[in-house]
Amino acid sequence: VSKTLCLTLKPVLRVSPRWLSPGSSVTLSCEVEHESAGWSFYWYKAVPDLSHKSGSYSYELLPASSNGTADNSYIIHGQTHTAGYVCRAGRGEPHVYTLYSQPHFVWSGDLHPSASLSVSPDRVQHFTSDSVSLTCEGNSAEWRVGSFLLPDLLSFCSDWGTMNGSTCHVQKIQSSNAVFWCESGSAFSNAVNITGHDDDLILLSPVHPVTEGHSVTLGCKWRTENLRSKVFFYQNYTLIQSESRVEMIIPAVSKSHEGFYKCQSSGKESPQSWLAVTSSLSGSSYLVPLVSGLACLIVLIILLLLMMFFKKSKSKSPFSFSCLQSIHQLNSLH
Ligand SMILES: *[C@@H]1O[C@H](CO)[C@@H](O)[C@H](O)[C@H]1NC(C)=O
Ligand SMILES: *[C@@H]1O[C@H](CO)[C@@H](O)[C@H](O)[C@H]1NC(C)=O
Ligand SMILES: *[C@@H]1O[C@H](CO)[C@@H](O)[C@H](O)[C@H]1NC(C)=O
Ligand SMILES: *[C@@H]1O[C@H](CO)[C@@H](O)[C@H](O)[C@H]1NC(C)=O
Repeated sequence: VSKTLCLTLKPVLRVSPRWLSPGSSVTLSCEVEHESAGWSFYWYKAVPDLSHKSGSYSYELLPASSNGTADNSYIIHGQTHTAGYVCRAGRGEPHVYTLYSQPHFVWSGDLHPSASLSVSPDRVQHFTSDSVSLTCEGNSAEWRVGSFLLPDLLSFCSDWGTMNGSTCHVQKIQSSNAVFWCESGSAFSNAVNITGHDDDLILLSPVHPVTEGHSVTLGCKWRTENLRSKVFFYQNYTLIQSESRVEMIIPAVSKSHEGFYKCQSSGKESPQSWLAVTSSLSGSSYLVPLVSGLACLIVLIILLLLMMFFKKSKSKSPFSFSCLQSIHQLNSLH
């Protein structure tokens, strides 16, 4: 392979899983098509560069990858937020590098105060030609809204909407299945699924994961007002409510409510969407009881050690003696 050919090769990065779940690791894999032998692989974190509104990133080498890895996969532990990654490969002496791969992302649905995305109207499914607003909030004055049209088209608000302050307005949503998130100069927000449908009927379900124990309301909505008979709600193809109401309330959500939902009415059916449930101890907060437990244990051990120390040293320790002595001296000064 000549050097010039190498320079135009673009590896393909895969990120698995695409949605983070607490405690699981993220695997990156980098493929150089048709050219598998003898590469070293370089792994980067994508850092949003807001000076280009149309979307660009700077790349920061990931730990232990500065000399390249022989393996074409790289595992990241403890990732809890949405993040973007890039890879490239190099070989030969001196190294000739491929191009950088397209950025790929791992998404987290969990809201964080430093960067969050909310959607209005707050639902996953929308009728095509509905307008939708995506609002970024957090520790930044400047935001960019990114989107990944599944399976792998990366684009930004400037490509399909208009940014006003920290809100991206989409005039008419297309028939699509996409993931959206906000980016500031340093941070990525939670990500949301938003889908556009040509159907007559859509399911109304929240874009943010529901916390265990909270209540959630699902709904069924017609494109145009329609004569309604009964409305049927399904979870994973199993009928769970059949009433004349267009809403279904789950009063206290548990992990078993996670799954695909859809509704049916008058012989029409909505597309199905995933309802995500987060544990009330999800993310890093499951560490809190662990850490406080450990802290208690350490304090207990220190107390025990101190008690033993003082018991032993009561009679003979020069330290405790001089301590007492200086207290006496201090007292006698007054
Ligand atoms: C990279 O290579 C240099 C020189 O060969 C070495 O000093 C350094 O420790 C290596 N870095 C890593 C992360 O392996
Ligand atoms: C988005 O949809 C995927 C499946 O299509 C699901 O695994 C993921 O949890 C959803 N994310 C949120 C925030 O609901
Ligand atoms: C931007 O938003 C502000 C406040 O919400 C509004 O007054 C203004 O008209 C908007 N600008 C455009 C160009 O839509
Ligand atoms: C519904 O299906 C999803 C994915 O196949 C699964 O994770 C979930 O546990 C299922 N829920 C129920 C109640 O069967």
